[in-house]
Amino acid sequence: MVGVALFGGGGFIGSHLTEHLAANRYEVVVVDIESDRLPDRCLNRSNVEFLQLDITDPANETTIERVVREADIVIDLIAYANPQIYVDRPIEVVELNLFENLKVAEYCMDTDTRLVQFSTVEVYGMVGHRGGGFSEDESLLILGPIQKQRWIYSCAKQLLERMLYAYGEHGKLEYTIVRPFNFIGPKMDYLVESPEEGTPRVFANFMSSLIYGHEMVLVDGGTQRRSFTYIEDAVEAVELILENESGHFTNEIVNIGSPGNETTIRNLAHTMREIFSDRTGESDLPDLEEVAGEEYYGEGYQDSERRIPDIGKLEAVGWEPSYGLEETLRASMTYYIDQLAGLRGSETVTTD
Ligand code: NAD
Ligand code: UGA
Repeated sequence: MVGVALFGGGGFIGSHLTEHLAANRYEVVVVDIESDRLPDRCLNRSNVEFLQLDITDPANETTIERVVREADIVIDLIAYANPQIYVDRPIEVVELNLFENLKVAEYCMDTDTRLVQFSTVEVYGMVGHRGGGFSEDESLLILGPIQKQRWIYSCAKQLLERMLYAYGEHGKLEYTIVRPFNFIGPKMDYLVESPEEGTPRVFANFMSSLIYGHEMVLVDGGTQRRSFTYIEDAVEAVELILENESGHFTNEIVNIGSPGNETTIRNLAHTMREIFSDRTGESDLPDLEEVAGEEYYGEGYQDSERRIPDIGKLEAVGWEPSYGLEETLRASMTYYIDQLAGLRGSETVTTD
């Protein structure tokens, strides 16, 4: 069995990855501060170990060093990954997403352990395409002004990438950097019963509106575009990267995304409404409300207009996404619609 240490394995991507790897001949150690999204059927497996650890706590250093040393591969997913946090808590974003992740890389270098580091599509910056998808090794980076704190996430992740690349060039680290393009699916972020409870990423926020009946907010009119990727497609791509049979992914940066699933946020809202109505029979749906980005998130907000991945590196090893946009949304929404009564308060909800 291949031993994988999953830092952040209790999160949205991590919980799906943990379940998938545990069912496919991997020995998985999850390091996270929370385990709510990991179902008992996963936590109870003999090849899964959950360690409830805060990686920022110096008291945990010895344990973390041991976990890294005993693993064949470390996957690091720990980060703040929500635009509202980039605007509200920019210093913590740098501390966690750059400095703490660099410490994980240092443990990997000290123990000669391969690192798969999750970065982000946001390292491509704020400007859209001049034809074709974003290509890992040819991109330009343009970010907004310093006062627009939203870009601190992109900047921190880009510096992390540059450090890993430099360590790799000096023969100190074997790594693969993964750039996810808007993964969605069950257990993404959290639901909000009312808008005052927070701002999850767009799929979870729209799902919350449909379940609890508050307005669906179209930031800046919803003309901006994203390419949404179903989590199961994404997890299969990560497994190929871990296997690395051809050596293609050694010291490489790899996009994971679904270029065919591009849509405007306005169309996302309409499609989710149609699916919700179709599946539940409900026709009295929440209104759409247009709000300016700076009003919605705060003054430090700016947005990227368009993000399409070039997935040539994964296509070269036979991967392509199998879920189209509507299938992605139906599969993601089914998880919530199946427990609608529970979510609205009249039945128990499970994490399965
Ligand atoms: P997530 O917030 O669901 O997962 C992050 C996990 O890290 C959480 O379970 C959290 O509890 C854990 N964590 C945070 N601080 C910790 C600490 N101090 N010690 C231990 N654990 C801690 O996010 P996600 O959507 O699963 O994203 C995972 C990674 O992928 C992140 O690096 C993110 O930047 C990147 N990413 C995700 C997407 C996406 O589409 N979801 C897109 C681009 C990049
Ligand atoms: C996300 C986050 O930065 C990270 O999770 C990640 O690195 C990356 O991008 C990704 O998921 O691949 P973004 O796509 O802007 O950034 O995050 P969302 O909150 O999902 O917003 C998508 C778009 O919908 C943005 O244009 C936002 O303004 C808009 N939006 C969001 C709405 O119109 N309404 C909402 O209720 C929420």
